[in-house]
Amino acid sequence: MVGTTGAAPGHENWSSRAAFILAAIGSAVGLGNLVRFPAEAGANGGGAFVIFYIFCIVLIGLPVLLSEILIGRHGQAAAPQSVRKTARDSNASEAWSILATIGMIAAFLILCFYSVIGGWVLYYIGTFAGEIFNSGLFSGAFQGRSAEDVQGLMPGLFANGSLQVILHLVFIGITIFFVARGVNRGIEFVATWLMPIFFLIFLGITIYGLFTGDFGRTAEYLFTFDLSKLTGPVMLAAVGQAFFSLSLGSAMMITYGAYAGRDINLAKTSGIIATADTSVALLAGFAIFPIVFAAGLDVSAGLGLMFQTLPVAFQTMPAGTLIGLLFFIMVFFAALTSAVALLEAPTSWALDKFRMGRQRTTMITGGLVLLVGGVAALSSTVFAGWEPLGFIPLFEGQDFFNTLDVLTGKVMLPVAALITAIFVGWIADRRLLDAENGLDGAMHHIWRFLVAWLCPIVLIAILVVGIFPGILG
Ligand code: TRP
Repeated sequence: MVGTTGAAPGHENWSSRAAFILAAIGSAVGLGNLVRFPAEAGANGGGAFVIFYIFCIVLIGLPVLLSEILIGRHGQAAAPQSVRKTARDSNASEAWSILATIGMIAAFLILCFYSVIGGWVLYYIGTFAGEIFNSGLFSGAFQGRSAEDVQGLMPGLFANGSLQVILHLVFIGITIFFVARGVNRGIEFVATWLMPIFFLIFLGITIYGLFTGDFGRTAEYLFTFDLSKLTGPVMLAAVGQAFFSLSLGSAMMITYGAYAGRDINLAKTSGIIATADTSVALLAGFAIFPIVFAAGLDVSAGLGLMFQTLPVAFQTMPAGTLIGLLFFIMVFFAALTSAVALLEAPTSWALDKFRMGRQRTTMITGGLVLLVGGVAALSSTVFAGWEPLGFIPLFEGQDFFNTLDVLTGKVMLPVAALITAIFVGWIADRRLLDAENGLDGAMHHIWRFLVAWLCPIVLIAILVVGIFPGILG
């Protein structure tokens, strides 16, 4: 056992450094990389968004990531309690724990729509599995059906509210099962088994895509920087995507940091997590956009990229049934490791607070996700046309499902990260956090500068121009 030093009673620790890193990567790599990144990149015009996103990862995401893990390791408890302890030890107000409270609520709300998408992924696994009998494992999927027909799978699913609720139930049920088993037997188990399999399948499919698709056009689309396209809303979308993808501002990395032993170099770990996460997002872009271009489909199809465009591609691909099946299994694995982490944040908080036992607590937090997510699952049917925050310009035209996405990605995560940067940059006692951050010399000063100055200033600016684009005239 590596990380048993300093844990609060009742807290399990990661059984090894590798387990911690895998679990953190497992939480970061998920639907955010595979579904949300391509969707946002396409909807926000490609290059400008992507380049600004990478800028955000390096200069804002990484410093905040290290800050969150540091708070967690210092606090050795669930996220709000960890911030409170860090504040207390710094003679600062415990009200700073608001950053973790916002984050935890955000994690909960993210899981509510995440699980619905997880349910769609299960549906596609089932569909491709069925194709084994229909088309055979080694031929293209959906033989004898038209491309329109295949694209119609998604609207078909969207029109079926009860099926979406059932799929959401299955997905959250699996998530509850693993979280209820605890850190070592549940979360670590999922991460250490599923993430390596994920990376294997992912690499295979990406290499396959690079040889078959339109690589040059994709590179140009994703990496051509056009300054005129970098509007306030695009910047907000990019920074929000950076936080979403790195699981920041959602109490997550604080929670996981609490399980990390003192001997783990947190700066290096943060670098590994951010590199892995960003590579997967970019490679996912390279797996998906070539197909979109080759088929002459719409880049701004949003979620349709994954659930409409790719199935059509698997129709004509050699061994499309097998590859499609593997593909959606891989997405499912990535989604499950993230969902487990998303549920762990509110669960570990409730566990510390109410002391009702892990299993019962998980049932309750998961049950609440089931309810709220159920409404999201019915956004395209029963609750179609209901725009809960539609009176606010940022949320105009967004149904309940999308409102959850916008509220978390574009408001809660950036705000929680902003408060985190101010807290670590200005409020928390440096001696508490700096001694163990794993940085030395110039890197340390750069990190300090980014957290205290660049992150707050840029985040405030982006929130303002992103939420009120009119300000720029
Ligand atoms: N990073 C996850 C993804 O890209 C989503 C996510 C956001 C998340 N915040 C989180 C996952 C907190 C776990 C915990 O899919």
